[in-house]
Parts: sequence; C-alpha cells; structure tokens
Amino acid sequence: MATTHLWHNARLATLADDTGWGLVEHGALLVQDDRLLWVGALDDMPAALRAQAGAQHDLGGALVTPGLVDCHTHLVYGGQRAGEFEMRLQGLDYAEIARSGGGIRSTVAATRACGDAELLAGARRRAQVLMAEGVTTLEIKSGYGLSLLDESRCLSIARQLGAELPLTVRTTYLGAHAIPPEFDGRADDYITAVCAWMPALHAAGLVDAVDAFCENIGFSPAQTRRVFVAARALGLPVKLHAEQLSDQDGAALAAEFGALSCDHLEYLSDAGVDAMRVAGTVAVLLPGAYYFLRETQLPPVAELRAQQVPIALASDHNPGSSPGLSLLLMANMACTLFRMTPLEAVLGITAHGARALGLTDRGRLVAGLRADFAVWDLEHPNELAYWFGHNPCRRVVAGGIERTA
Ligand code: NIG
Ligand code: FE
Repeated sequence: MATTHLWHNARLATLADDTGWGLVEHGALLVQDDRLLWVGALDDMPAALRAQAGAQHDLGGALVTPGLVDCHTHLVYGGQRAGEFEMRLQGLDYAEIARSGGGIRSTVAATRACGDAELLAGARRRAQVLMAEGVTTLEIKSGYGLSLLDESRCLSIARQLGAELPLTVRTTYLGAHAIPPEFDGRADDYITAVCAWMPALHAAGLVDAVDAFCENIGFSPAQTRRVFVAARALGLPVKLHAEQLSDQDGAALAAEFGALSCDHLEYLSDAGVDAMRVAGTVAVLLPGAYYFLRETQLPPVAELRAQQVPIALASDHNPGSSPGLSLLLMANMACTLFRMTPLEAVLGITAHGARALGLTDRGRLVAGLRADFAVWDLEHPNELAYWFGHNPCRRVVAGGIERTA
C-alpha cells in the first residue's frame, strides 16, 4: 500500500473559492497517492487521519499554493524569430510580417526541418523552465506543423513530454493556425484538410481540445465554424484565439460551441463578453503577447469582472508573439498592465487556468483534488504577482510526488 504523506507547518493559500486567498496558518496537507485526503490547520485534523500519515514533511512555515497551470502555450517548435523582433522594432508590424510570408509560416518551415529528437529536446527545455517556477499542468498546442505528418509529430512530442516529465500535459490541435505554403490562396481547401486530419489525430489519442486562429491574418468566422463542427462531431471541446488583433465576433462563435476558453481578447466586444458569460467560457488573457507586440488596446477586464466571466492567464509561449517562460511574470503584468488584482492574477494561473482546460480536479487546495502544490520562499501569496525576474519556488509536489531537480 502506498505511503500516506503529511505535509505540515505551512501557510496555505488554498484558493478554495474565488472570494479570497483561503489562508490557513499552521496548515497541513494529507496526501494519499495522487490526491489530497485532507487540508486544513494541523490542530483540526482528525486524530484517526493523522494516524495514517506514514511519512511527515516539515515545511518550516513556508507558503504553499496550488501548483500553477499554464493553460495556453505553443511549446513545440523549431527555430526562433529574433530577426522578426528586430524588424518590428524598426516599424514593421506583426500582421505585415505575417502577410509577407514571415511570422507563423517561418516557424512552420523551421519546425518541419527539425527532427523529432531536436523538437523534443527544445520543448523539454522550455517545459523544465516553467516547471521550476511551480507549473504542474501545461497545455501545449500544435500549429507549427500544418500537415498531417507534422501536426502529428508535434502533438506526439507534447504527449511524450507528459509521459516523461512529472507534470500533466494537455494537448490542443491547432491545425487552423495559418495557411501552409502548399495551400497558398486556398484557405477553404486547407480547412477541409484540417477537419479531415482531425479524426486520425484524435483516434491516435493526441487531441484533448481543438483551437483555431480567427483573425484577418488567420481564418474567417465561417472557416472557424467548420473546424468547430468537426470537433463537435468527435466530442472534442473547443477553444479559440479570438479578437487578438481585431473584433471578428469570434468569442460569440466559440461560445455557441460551448468553448472551454477564448484567448487573447483585446478587441472583445460587450456582446462577446455576454456570450462568454452565458456559455461559461473562460477568458484567457495573455499579457506576454500584449506586451511583446506592443499592443495598446486593453482587454475589457472591467466588463469581464462585472459579468463574472472567469479570467485565466497564460504564458502563450511561442517564438513570435510571446517568447517568455514565466507564469509569475504574466501574473505581475496582468496587474501592472491590465489592472487585475493579485488575487485575480493568482486565480488566473491556478483554478481558472485549470477550468480553461476543462479540469475541475486541480487548481485549489481542497480535499479530493489532485495533490499538485508548490512551496514558496514568500510570506504572502500576493507576492506571487509582485516580484518579477527571480524564482521564489522552492519545492513542487505533482500528483502526490515531490519533484527532484
Ligand atoms: O497566440 N495568434 C496566433 N498565435 C500565436 C502566435 C504565433 C506566432 O506568432 O508564431 C499567439 O499569439
Ligand atoms: Fe497562442
């Protein structure tokens, strides 16, 4: 029988609901297998339960939070786009670069040219940076392969990372990210292919959700709808890169399909906010892309808040619009740039991030949920959104097991 572990002498920020930090002094977590069996102040723990603890871990009064959830990344790719960054600094804009064949397409070429081992090594290195900062659940999108073979390779590499690293990986099929060169001028035909590949990728166990880039430089709402219809036929949940550079009414379209999340959302309208509220769709804000593209249009945080649309935050790590690898920096930028509160920001990288992936078994320290938690060299959880540029994470437990370096 597996040992039951007692983690004690902690200051817990349970985030048990959305109303506060859920602070517990002299807190303890009783962990059985990969689950939290009991959470609270040690003195309140029933003696019978305490007697079950086979191993004890004294946390020395440290702060403990749920493990972090990065619910939107494009971690598997080849090459980098520092040259494009320089071009943008000289005045070219992201959309212009994309239209002239650079942008996503240049990463597609670099990804196709990479062998599996090289792709895996790059994605593993990046995942390890996120993990060192307390990430225990990571979403990884495809979208730099754009052929059946290359999308399949990228999704398989994401799955492989989940199998070899102590973290949960959720995969998202983003075939509708850009038009590959072999489909130049034939966007509708490419969407037909994206939909046709979906059953095979799903049958291979490679797809947890389906995403698309609905934008002037991406796909139209009508094309996006076709992708969503194909996903629905397979019972797959959808997500959407929506209203990043312009308002396409993408959020309302995604909400119509019960989307788990709509992501970016700088140009989201009131009607879009309303549709998301009704559908229970999470708003995933991506301050890294906002910052790195030097966007000035702010996402409608006040409206989302007023309509009680849950807000998540993610790194959106990718080589074009957000090459950063720090979820804590995203939390900080969500406060400074988007005027979110530290509590909202921390919920955004824990419970709400989990919800954006359709995961209800994590993101809070509550009995019955997964034993995913991070131990910090901090006094109060509001510091998670305060410090930036250094890593205060000291220990991480994922699925009940402590990670070793
Ligand atoms: O989330 N907007 C579309 N996709 C990515 C960027 C991809 C790229 O530039 O390579 C994003 O920002
Ligand atoms: Fe993205």
